Amino acid sequence: MKPDVQPNKVVVLSGAGVSAESGLPTFRDSNGLWNTFSWQELASPDGWKRHPEAVLAFYNERRLQAWQAKPNAAHAAIASLEAAYEVVVITQNVDELHERAGSSNVIHLHGQLAYARGTSEMPKRYRIEDAPISMGQLCEEGTQLRPDIVWFGEEIQFFREARMHVATAARVLVVGTSLSVYPAAALLNVARSRAQKVLVTLDVDKWPFGFTFLRGKATQVLPNLAARWLSEAGRVA
Ligand code: APR
Repeated sequence: MKPDVQPNKVVVLSGAGVSAESGLPTFRDSNGLWNTFSWQELASPDGWKRHPEAVLAFYNERRLQAWQAKPNAAHAAIASLEAAYEVVVITQNVDELHERAGSSNVIHLHGQLAYARGTSEMPKRYRIEDAPISMGQLCEEGTQLRPDIVWFGEEIQFFREARMHVATAARVLVVGTSLSVYPAAALLNVARSRAQKVLVTLDVDKWPFGFTFLRGKATQVLPNLAARWLSEAGRVA
């Protein structure tokens, strides 16, 4: 039995492309992080085991960069939808630009740079904002602190909750993601056929069935889309 679609619910699935115009690099574009660095060495449990110092340095740099970045017009457009809709932002991004733009319901599937966690079975999380993590820095249970980031091969966070939100959304907006990484990309499979589904990105090699594709930069496409959706709800942008 499928859950009911909530007519006033908008779910946004965002990826690195939504933060690109805030100066944060994506992963798979020509100048993306995984074309510069090796994810096997820096974003995997194996890489952490082999050289934790290099992993800590990589994330310390990214944490500082993300902390200094500013939300852009795309983050603001998404936040503005809350004036008329119940908006759930499901992001693969580890920055806090959606929150800083005013989005109040953000689910981070791949973790957050502003947090560290221990390396025990049930690790505690610590908000560290832009502070670096160093070798020998331990959690209160005495284990080495690590970035609170989901590495390749680790289980993503809040997936069941995210699926439920996509399955009950009347509008699904996918922005700035190559849909290359699972299970995040599989969330689109539960979007309802009757939901309005829009994909905003620069180039698409995976065009999910039933989605309208709006090619363009997120800061150029989203303000108009948000204004249209707000006027459909009887609200002026
Ligand atoms: N506006 C809109 N889309 C953009 C922009 C922009 N200004 N700039 C880039 N894009 C698009 C690219 O065309 C591409 O489709 O954003 C997408 C970025 O894709 P990726 O670099 O693969 O990033 P993402 O999809 O978020 O990666 C998912 O992979 O490595 C893991 O954990 C990492 O969360 C990340 C996951």
